[in-house]
Amino acid sequence: MIIVTGGAGFIGSNFILSWLKEKNEPVINLDKLTYAGNPDNLSSVKDHPHYTFVHADMGDRQVIRQLLSQHQPRAIINFAAESHVDRSIHGPGDFIQTNIVATFHLLEETRAYFDQLPLEQKAQFRFLHVSTDEVFGSLDPHDPPFSETTAYQPNSPYSASKAASDHLVRAWHHTYGLPILTTNCSNNYGPYQFPEKLIPLMISHALKGKALPVYGDGQNIRDWLYVEDHCEAIMTVLDKGKIGETYNVGGLNEKTNLELVEMICRQLDHLKPASLPYSSLITFVKDRPGHDRRYAINANKIMTELGWRPKESFESGIKKTIDWYLNNENWVNNILNGHYRQWIETNYQDRVSV
Ligand code: NAD
Ligand code: TYD
Repeated sequence: MIIVTGGAGFIGSNFILSWLKEKNEPVINLDKLTYAGNPDNLSSVKDHPHYTFVHADMGDRQVIRQLLSQHQPRAIINFAAESHVDRSIHGPGDFIQTNIVATFHLLEETRAYFDQLPLEQKAQFRFLHVSTDEVFGSLDPHDPPFSETTAYQPNSPYSASKAASDHLVRAWHHTYGLPILTTNCSNNYGPYQFPEKLIPLMISHALKGKALPVYGDGQNIRDWLYVEDHCEAIMTVLDKGKIGETYNVGGLNEKTNLELVEMICRQLDHLKPASLPYSSLITFVKDRPGHDRRYAINANKIMTELGWRPKESFESGIKKTIDWYLNNENWVNNILNGHYRQWIETNYQDRVSV
């Protein structure tokens, strides 16, 4: 069996759903259920015989120790993190605590568990750490995309905390021999993404006739990866990745934010026409401090060495995503509670239109 941390979040829950569909192997989901963790994401599998949920912090050493010794997993996949750049700007403390300190505790308990495994189980065991392309910093328009050897230059409290966790994971391999794998992927999109992130926020605002807040000049570039393609990449790295290596995972889809928001508007005009085109809601607002200009991924290593490539084009992936949000308005409405509204106020009230 395997243990997944952060499985009630966006990517983790997509991963568990794919895992249970494709594999005949139990999975334990350990999640603290922060604002970003949502058990509804996994309601369709809550009674699945291969699914168990444990409500805990991954930094809780006793819980982790007990879980590892009771279930003897052959792998841990570490998704759990504070993941939103804007929140890291308003309050970096939780990012340091979870992404760095709790990862350290998880690594220490994993090391103690690994050290006492019999040789055969040791050879099978893997710790897969899910990271981000944001650790590499920001690219200029004509720079080559990030590769696995690009130097780390994190610019936000979020990316700095993820970079720190990547370094810990790397060190626990080099110093203690923990069999680690690391993936650094680009911006994910798809079902179950919390509507604080660009794509679900724009869909949700458009459907409510609210302004679509584009930061700065809207020319920042991101590479977009459909979440199920990312989950397939993680399964591939778990199966075939070389111990100690890192793999960059990208969607081969670079887009400016403005292009992307306009594309969402056009799809919505077609699927759910309103009295005015949705693009009339686009509002340029004050930029994010330290906003990285461009991310791009060179995914040649995972494609050539492990045979993975993304299946979804951006056009097909964004269509699936918008369809999902249109068919699951209740999922979004259940999140739009007082805490969420408070966050929207905190993040957007000082971003007057520019
Ligand atoms: P998310 O914010 O949607 O979910 C994070 C999950 O982790 C939540 O369920 C939350 O409850 C849980 N969690 C937080 N702190 C915890 C703790 N201390 N112990 C246990 N659980 C805890 O995040 P996501 O978008 O699904 O991202 C998952 C991982 O992928 C993160 O490590 C993130 O850095 C990385 N990543 C995300 C993206 C993206 O575009 N979303 C891109 C690259 C990398
Ligand atoms: P986001 O989804 O927060 O991901 P990240 O910052 O990790 O890349 O943002 C994606 C891009 O969209 C980023 O350049 C910031 C921009 N953005 C907006 O323009 N408006 C918004 O309201 C949000 C949330 C993001």
